[in-house]
Amino acid sequence: MRWFFFLLTLSHAMSLPSKNLSQNPLNIFILAGQSNMAGRGGVVNDTNTGVTTWDGIVPPQCQPNPSIFKLSAKLTWVQAHEPLHADIDVAKINGVGPGLAFANAVLTKDPNFGVVGLVPCAIGGTNISEWEKGKFLYEQTVRRANVALQSGGVIRALLWYQGESDTVNKEDAELYKGRLEKFFMDLRGDLQDPLLPIIQVTLASGQGPYINIVREAQLGIDLLDVHCVEAKGLPLEPDGLHLTTQAQVRLGGLLADAFMESMPSPMGVSRTSIAAHRGFSNFVPYFFIASLSILLFTILTFI
Ligand SMILES: *[C@@H]1O[C@H](CO)[C@@H](O)[C@H](O)[C@H]1NC(C)=O
Ligand SMILES: *[C@@H]1O[C@H](CO)[C@@H](O)[C@H](O)[C@H]1NC(C)=O
Ligand SMILES: *[C@@H]1O[C@H](CO)[C@@H](O)[C@H](O)[C@H]1NC(C)=O
Repeated sequence: MRWFFFLLTLSHAMSLPSKNLSQNPLNIFILAGQSNMAGRGGVVNDTNTGVTTWDGIVPPQCQPNPSIFKLSAKLTWVQAHEPLHADIDVAKINGVGPGLAFANAVLTKDPNFGVVGLVPCAIGGTNISEWEKGKFLYEQTVRRANVALQSGGVIRALLWYQGESDTVNKEDAELYKGRLEKFFMDLRGDLQDPLLPIIQVTLASGQGPYINIVREAQLGIDLLDVHCVEAKGLPLEPDGLHLTTQAQVRLGGLLADAFMESMPSPMGVSRTSIAAHRGFSNFVPYFFIASLSILLFTILTFI
């Protein structure tokens, strides 16, 4: 019986991330889509001069945290700070997006979650066709995700907020569902994780009149483990297109809720075994020792 607890403790210890996590962000999140994922919260357009600037206001929920890193454009892990996409969406003025608010909310909900590694990939103004497999944005996302994985982490989810650009033509809006499903399936395939959790944001706004067709496509995605977070009704900047800083803080919290709910059980066996199935070698020793413990427990009980 004592052996059982010893092995259980040992297997638990092996599942804990190493403490030198600046080298090893365990919990990787890919952030992709267009401007509202990149972040335009607090970006103001001086209508007199036409000059666009970020107001520089970073709410407490979006402050840097020693446990939150991001993969920079130079492919190195750096401490994450707003604007998260400044070195990625370089053609635009970036402001506050949902990424840091999300990561901080996850760590508030689960202080033992470990280190978070954000992989920003969103580019403003892009349509779903530009995210197709083979095109630059898609390949760039796969490349950045693979670099992130080299540090020994696990991709926990894709956070996706896109579609505003696909509301301009009725035909594109109607083709959105098929294009989005293909994008999700291709990405899961190329990341070799057929059950990669996807949390997508349903549109709050759009550049054209066909917002509802795209929203219905998003809500109707017929794939396992694709979750929707509702942005409709969140406050928008005066441009009527971009979420305000406060809206992004709320969206980050909603994404964190959806992510936590999408996990089968907090640090439970089911999550571990799913991770092992997904081929994460760092979970395999844990899975093996846990099985051994159960076997030994069974033997000890019957002798
Ligand atoms: C983490 O690892 C890096 C490089 O291996 C090293 O420079 C650093 O001192 C380590 N930090 C801690 C806290 O051990
Ligand atoms: C800022 O406003 C000017 C004038 O209304 C407009 O031409 C320009 O496109 C706007 N820029 C952005 C980034 O919204
Ligand atoms: C998507 O954007 C690209 C680049 O701006 C453009 O060439 C293409 O026509 C757009 N496609 C759709 C379906 O809107």
